[in-house]
Amino acid sequence: MRDRYDRKINYIRLSITDRCNLRCRYCMPNGLSDWVPMRDILSYEELLDVARAAAALGITRFKVTGGEPLVRRDCPEFIGELKRIPGVEQVTMTSNGVLLTRLLPRLLENGLDAVNVSLDTLKRERFSEITGMDELPAVLSGIDEALRAGLKLKLNAVLQPGVNEEERWELLSLAKDRPLDIRFIELMPIGHGKDSRPVYNEILRSELKERFPGLERDERVHGNGPAEYWRIPGYRGSVGFISAMHGKFCGSCNRIRLTSTGKLKPCLCYGNAVDLMPVLRGERYLGREREGERIAALRKRIRQAISEKPESHCFERLSEISEERIMAAIGG
Ligand code: 5AD
Ligand code: SF4
Repeated sequence: MRDRYDRKINYIRLSITDRCNLRCRYCMPNGLSDWVPMRDILSYEELLDVARAAAALGITRFKVTGGEPLVRRDCPEFIGELKRIPGVEQVTMTSNGVLLTRLLPRLLENGLDAVNVSLDTLKRERFSEITGMDELPAVLSGIDEALRAGLKLKLNAVLQPGVNEEERWELLSLAKDRPLDIRFIELMPIGHGKDSRPVYNEILRSELKERFPGLERDERVHGNGPAEYWRIPGYRGSVGFISAMHGKFCGSCNRIRLTSTGKLKPCLCYGNAVDLMPVLRGERYLGREREGERIAALRKRIRQAISEKPESHCFERLSEISEERIMAAIGG
């Protein structure tokens, strides 16, 4: 379906949990302050109803996110169910990678198409400082196991001044011998991201050009998102930049986001959302025999969220950011 600015919306991010097994300092350094009880989190059946309604509106690409999606029981089988919905062309996942090795066989069995793994450092102690947990070895083996199994994989790195910014080249070198893309995401002023500053991709990009004079723009389609990619001669993977703060990519925005509690967000930056709970849990829509009515009502609300998509985000004007949830509640 197209929105008011004629953007084609064909991608949805589904946050299946706000729980996480890490405590990233820009996300939930102290854990979750508003612990959402499990009964307020959408069940897999409810999520699948939303997915059916979304698919009927032309949404073909689904990203499963969290918190950390793999901490929710049976996440791989949920992915398998998503894949079986008519109209669903691609199901991918964003993960911190900690549980990847363990769940990889089930993820592959269920047809996961690709995974994005978050990785901000290659130093074990620094990983513990940034994420609160000593899990770097698990993440690195998860990445290599996934690649060995032939799963498509991208790395997401968030650089922070004075924390890990000087590791940019080491992180980048992972794409030299491995068939993976690495993307630098500018820290966004969402949740605890407000407590730190971003490293601007514009600076990274010009340093990269100096370092690799043969750098070439990579115009191939790599994923669903707003990243801009470059190829470095001799590297197997590409480097991407997600310039959330300055590169205004809103003109090609193709997405909506569902929080784990059933709020459909038209844009990351703003707090407003269309609540799907009244349909998913409303008495008049309950039961197998009302499935048709329920999906129709969900379609109507999804259409509403799409039609409410603003023209662009407002990350450069802090006072206008009305989103107060933390990233783990939104799913990135
Ligand atoms: N700004 C940018 N990226 C963030 N992430 C979490 N919080 C922020 C933020 N404030 C990233 C994680 C992960 C992805 C899902 O979102 O590092 O890679
Ligand atoms: Fe967990 Fe991701 Fe938040 Fe880190 S950024 S605490 S891995 S949800």
